[in-house]
Amino acid sequence: MLINRIFNGNDAVYGLTVGAIDDAIAKNGADKAVGFPNTAYCLPCYYAVTGVKVKTLGDLKEAVGVVKTLMTREHALDDALMSGVATALCAEFIEALKYVDGAVPYEEPCYGHLADAVIRELGVPLVTGDIPGVAVVLGSAPTAKEGVDLIKSYQAQGILVTLVGGIIDQCEELGYKTGANVRVIPLGKDVTSVIHVVSVAIRAALIFGNVTPGDAGALLAYTAERVPAFVNAFAPIDDVILAAGAGAIKLGFPVISNETEGIAEVPGALIPAKVEDFNKTSLEARNIKIKITNIDIPVAFASAFEGEIIRRGDMQVEFDGSRVDCFELVQSKDMEEIEDHRIEIIGPEIDEFPEGSKQSIAYIVEVAGKNMQPDFEPVFERKFHSYINCIEGVMHTGQRDMIRVRISKDAYQVGFRAKHIGEVLYAKVKSEFEAVVDKCQVKIYTMPEDCTKLRHELAVPAFDKRDDRLRNLTDESVDVYYSCILCQAFSPSHVCVVTPERLGLCGAVSWLDAKATNELDPNGPCQVITKEKCIDDRIGEFEDVNEAVHKLSQGALEEVSLYSIMEKPMTSCGCFECICGIEPFSNGVVITNREYAGMTPLGMTFPELASMTGGGVQTPGFMGHGKHFIASKKFMKAEGGIERIVWMPKELKDMVAERLNETAKELYGIDNFTGMVADETIAQDPETLVAFLTEQGHPALSMNPMM
Ligand code: SF4
Ligand code: NI
Ligand code: NI
Repeated sequence: MLINRIFNGNDAVYGLTVGAIDDAIAKNGADKAVGFPNTAYCLPCYYAVTGVKVKTLGDLKEAVGVVKTLMTREHALDDALMSGVATALCAEFIEALKYVDGAVPYEEPCYGHLADAVIRELGVPLVTGDIPGVAVVLGSAPTAKEGVDLIKSYQAQGILVTLVGGIIDQCEELGYKTGANVRVIPLGKDVTSVIHVVSVAIRAALIFGNVTPGDAGALLAYTAERVPAFVNAFAPIDDVILAAGAGAIKLGFPVISNETEGIAEVPGALIPAKVEDFNKTSLEARNIKIKITNIDIPVAFASAFEGEIIRRGDMQVEFDGSRVDCFELVQSKDMEEIEDHRIEIIGPEIDEFPEGSKQSIAYIVEVAGKNMQPDFEPVFERKFHSYINCIEGVMHTGQRDMIRVRISKDAYQVGFRAKHIGEVLYAKVKSEFEAVVDKCQVKIYTMPEDCTKLRHELAVPAFDKRDDRLRNLTDESVDVYYSCILCQAFSPSHVCVVTPERLGLCGAVSWLDAKATNELDPNGPCQVITKEKCIDDRIGEFEDVNEAVHKLSQGALEEVSLYSIMEKPMTSCGCFECICGIEPFSNGVVITNREYAGMTPLGMTFPELASMTGGGVQTPGFMGHGKHFIASKKFMKAEGGIERIVWMPKELKDMVAERLNETAKELYGIDNFTGMVADETIAQDPETLVAFLTEQGHPALSMNPMM
């Protein structure tokens, strides 16, 4: 019965797909290009399953023939599940047709297809457990309120929610805010739009997992084991939804539904539940554990609120470090100087500030512990941005003495006050750094004269001292490096070697961070790597580093260099901030970053370049790296260093200019080096690029060819 319904649904979708492809060919011809924007994987699901890249309507016609071969009609469960996969592939074809001719088929609030860059960005939060799971909510809830309550419950747990169908209208009906920034992504209202989240899971396997396209077995094992997704499907469930659900189950994603008619339970795969129990049932089915920190504040605290934006008109009060004196600071103290969990407000609470006003604030988190080191202060402090942003109704930007904090009227009205910022900082620092923090207290200053005085007499000197320390931290000046293998959750053989002058490629793990992580959890992702047995100084190769990498990659990697992009380069997982690749005409390299959607002179966009490497394999000529690595003296030192950089997107160039120019001056005596580096406003093809570099006398032109 269930199996027949899946076959019916599959047949219906298949018929529609064939019709749609034929219509499109009749209208546009078989040579017409087809594909999704901002991905290097054409039709990602079909490509991953078969290894074939569909590029034209003609290819699509052939592909739908291949899909037909999956639609066997024996009455076994696996036939039904393969028909589910066939249904999903048909959905991908139907969705792809919507994008023919550069059409923009989705409009607010729906997203439709999600870019490769979005998936790469999800890498780190997924491995750290910051996003513990991905929910696919499909159909219309019994009432709009029940639907929104379900979404909220996931948001509060940090779970990324995608929406398909009527639930999107239900959110709009109640004015519930959606968007990638609050981790609620409406995909589309047609059921076929569910493929856009399936596509995310499947591309994760290609991007992070190094799964070979066409190896369907490895693909399905990867999604089942490593992508913590599940489906919540509201009744009524028709045959088409059922067929799509079978596809989800084949990928390892359980389907939880309140449908009671004509559906049999398939243990662990198709699970009946009441809507109010969807959350609990889903988490259990996928074995997702939620980290809970109890924080005594009157609003929600969840990573889903991290990207929340508070507009000027919605704010009760704003603390703006660009206008008045503000700062945030962590300081280590002696044990007896601290009274644990003391939160002190020195100055007026926000009740006393006029609505919508700009005020000063300074908060100092004082910590003490036997194993505390001053080197950890900036590590904790850098997390404040995320902690404070996770408060519902509070927005935080910047760091140190350039912070801005907005508190919304809504949060204020339910009782949120400045002291609650202290509660959050206290609770998070104590729970996340418990191995080194025994006691913690928070002082919050809100009087302008205190903030001014403390900023100049306490904070700025502390920041200066730290900067001096960082400047003197070089790869040579330390005794050990650290590994990071957090990303092995998705890239099983990837290892980052983190050094003072080369941070992790995600940009989130510096040598100090890795050191702190190791101290906090000696058996955790960051292990000490000694560097006593140098093999080759030029490329930065060490016997002990090789041994560590070999062990930590479970034998997948033998040798790795720290400073070369050509010889034994470090691997990439997939969540790198930037990718650089050789530009043969100029002897240089082009760097592009995740945020830049445009073309590079290599004729490839970020997703295309990014797809050249990843999955924990070494790819000479391409290297994923963090933004901060660009100005490092160790950036491809083996090939001549930063002098090789010939092109960057303008925004990235501006961001790194100050430090990059400093390095160029110091290493080569070049003034204003970034003036010689092209960007998209100057060149988008090799000819224009080389002409510009020649005019500028760019040093790369006269360097040895890299290959
Ligand atoms: Fe992943 Fe490397 Fe960043 Fe660690 S440092 S989280 S392994 S990219
Ligand atoms: Ni917030
Ligand atoms: Ni990663």
